Amino acid sequence: MSQRITIDYTNCMDTVIKRDGISKNKLKSQQAALRQAQQEISRKKKAGQLGFMELPYKKEEAVKIKKLVAELKSKFDNFVVLGIGGSALGNICLQNSLNHLYYNFLPKDKRRGFPRIFVLDNVDADMVKGLMEVIDVKKTIFNVITKSGATSETIAQYFIFRRELEKQLGKKYNQNIIATTDAEKGYLRELANKESYASLVVPKNVGGRFSVLSPVGLLSAAFGGIDIEKLLAGARDMDERCSISIMSHNPAMMYAVIQYLMYQEGKIISVMMPYAQHLKEVADWYAQLWAESLGKAVNNQGKQINVGPTPVKTLGATDQHSQAQLYMEGPFDKVVTILSVGKLAASLTIPAYDDHFLGGQTMNKLLQTEEKATAMALAQKDRPNLTITLPEINEFTMGQLIHLFELATAYMGELLEINTFDQPGVELGKILTYALMGRQGFEDKKKEIEANLKKMKSHYKV
Ligand code: PA5
Repeated sequence: MSQRITIDYTNCMDTVIKRDGISKNKLKSQQAALRQAQQEISRKKKAGQLGFMELPYKKEEAVKIKKLVAELKSKFDNFVVLGIGGSALGNICLQNSLNHLYYNFLPKDKRRGFPRIFVLDNVDADMVKGLMEVIDVKKTIFNVITKSGATSETIAQYFIFRRELEKQLGKKYNQNIIATTDAEKGYLRELANKESYASLVVPKNVGGRFSVLSPVGLLSAAFGGIDIEKLLAGARDMDERCSISIMSHNPAMMYAVIQYLMYQEGKIISVMMPYAQHLKEVADWYAQLWAESLGKAVNNQGKQINVGPTPVKTLGATDQHSQAQLYMEGPFDKVVTILSVGKLAASLTIPAYDDHFLGGQTMNKLLQTEEKATAMALAQKDRPNLTITLPEINEFTMGQLIHLFELATAYMGELLEINTFDQPGVELGKILTYALMGRQGFEDKKKEIEANLKKMKSHYKV
């Protein structure tokens, strides 16, 4: 069986979708723009701006990480990621897709001696305190991940756990921390040097949401027993497929151009709907990748365009009983991507009772039938949808999927003529937080915000 993932976009074409379906000619007319996009991506790659495209080839990095994990894994019961956004979502996605769904509840031998994995991606005291109540911090390794080295949420978490570690372990507390950050700059790098933490590097040219195949995502994956070399091999395989300039042979070009043409037709919402519990968090990771990369105020010429598809994360079959009604009969503003799995790992036969039609059939058949029924029903209602199929869920196919979406995001950004790789909106939020929380150097900003806040009094409230 081929281990390559496929994209079926039949249900986006005008042969099936009568309202706003894409014609063959329209698709072909995009070939030149896609080639230009590919040249631009290749130029940026050569200029060293697209570090995420180099990650699948960094085999030595994976070997280094595996060695570190082999040295440390038996010493710790828990591995906790402290990070947010691109420094957390990829980690969650990899654990959920490639490990047992109740991994942390398994006894250690069933985890092959690997520690339990937790990712704290918020500054909610209930969450942080709650974790403290269920882990022994002395037996826990904390991976503090922040590319900038300064993100308030991450540093706050770090301070809390550092204090706890210091209380319990004294000077030797530093053995329980691994910092993942910029090679030279930032507060976390300063701390790593001063406190002698083990550390890994986030390459300068890799943005947070594109960093899952860098040490940001690979370390926690390897601590969870995931084969990170196979993950990179899958990404390399997709990279090679996407080096072709003909869109019908290049999955990233094809995914991007379908999304682009649909966006031009007013399908401004990009729904991600995996039909596998293991792929649930892919939708969350994709939502950040798509939203933060493509939601931009200005184009490359500096013209205000306020562009960007809105990603929506859903789950089949769960959301058939929640959002599907809207997708079938609401506004014609969505394109749905179904994530399908050829062969699901577990299998369960539904026991037979009372000649019920479900008796004797498998749960997988039910899930996969529901998936096909959704695709068909959407198409019948003129709702465009495409299906990405993973032959099975493993490291090789997940590596392909991740790299496919990252490359497709780069193509989509070129088609929209925007900067895919910055995030001025996120930065603004960070600056306002720094100012309001009293960070040094932000005093004037704080005064300005406070003056604005006074003006912004809530006049309308119930
Ligand atoms: O993709 C991004 O750039 C962001 O989502 C960042 O990952 C997020 O803001 C966290 O930043 P940092 O890794 O600097 O703490």
